[in-house]
Order: sequence, then structure tokens, then C-alpha cells
Amino acid sequence: MRQKGTWMKLKLLVAAMALAGCASGEKQPDPDSLYARMGGLNGVALATEEMVNRVLTDPEILANVELQKRAKPGNVPGIKVQITNLLAGLAGGPETYHGRSMVDAHKGMQVTEKQWYAFIKACRDGMVAAKIGPKEVEEMVVILESMKPEIVEEK
Ligand code: HEM
Repeated sequence: MRQKGTWMKLKLLVAAMALAGCASGEKQPDPDSLYARMGGLNGVALATEEMVNRVLTDPEILANVELQKRAKPGNVPGIKVQITNLLAGLAGGPETYHGRSMVDAHKGMQVTEKQWYAFIKACRDGMVAAKIGPKEVEEMVVILESMKPEIVEEK
């Protein structure tokens, strides 16, 4: 009998939690959003993984001494989480980015135009490796390009 009571309480708790989720107005991603078309959080996270791994092994980008100083192996997993949340949110997902502004995060890195285009190529290749469709790759590139003025400091 006691066990039945505990079970009921547990069921009630689960129902209350589900209701709280709905009532809090949690953002439901639009099924047509870039986020949904990229495969939701897992799709964006995998794309980020592939993009960042390529960015950090590209010789043109590695020529940036500041990048080498700042993107230490110990920081990379955290940077990937931050980028996943940023891009997921920008693509229409419910994730929220809590990191620094793009200007603050990249200040003093002296990212050049040449490094920027190597970065975009590495991102394109990474998204293709993550099996993101060609239309979605181009839509994400537009999002990335929109941040160029905040990141590139050198001609
Ligand atoms: C649209 C393009 C880019 C986006 C969306 C982006 C996004 C981010 C984000 C979210 C962070 C973490 C910020 C934080 O921890 O508060 C970060 C950090 C960083 N990014 Fe980028 N980034 C971009 C381009 C680049 C480029 C082109 C480079 C280098 C060539 C670069 C190098 C770095 C480095 C080294 C850090 C670590 C900074 C530090 O911890 O001091 N990023 N980026």
C-alpha cells in the first residue's frame, strides 16, 4: 500500500514537471527553422565539433599567435559548448548564449581577412563532414558572416 502511494506521488510529480515546462513558455523550435533542419541541438553540436576541429588545425588560422595562446586544449571543450549555444540560438533553437560578446571574446586577436576566409572554409568543410545539407550550410555561413565586423580587426 505504502509503495502504491509513493508511486502515485512520483506520477504526480512527473505530471507537474511536464506542466511547469509548458507553463513557463519554453520556446518550441519552429520545425522549419535552420536549427530544426540542421538536426536540432545534436546537429548543431556535431557541426560545431567538426568546424572547431578544422579551424584549430588550419595552418592559415594557426599562424595567428594569439589564437595559439588562447585556444589551449583545456579551453576548447568549453569554447565548443559556447559556440554550440550561440549558433543554436541564432539558428532558431531554444538555447541561450551566456558568453562574452564577439567583440570582447576576440579583442586583440588581430584576426586578418585572410584568416577569416580560411575560417569560413574550415566551417563549410566541417558542416559538410557533419552531414549538414548544402542549403543549411549556406544559411549558417550567412549567420557567421554577419559577425565578421565584430571579429576581424586587421585588413
Ligand atoms: C563567426 C565566427 C566566430 C564565432 C561565432 C566565434 C565564437 C566564439 C565564442 C562563442 C567564443 C567563446 C566566448 C567566451 O568564452 O565567452 C569564442 C572564443 C574564441 N574564438 Fe571565436 N568565433 C568566431 C571566429 C573566430 C575566429 C575567426 C578566430 C580565430 C582566427 C576565433 C578564435 C577564438 C579564440 C582563440 C577564442 C578563445 C578566446 C579566449 O578565451 O580568450 N574565433 N569564439
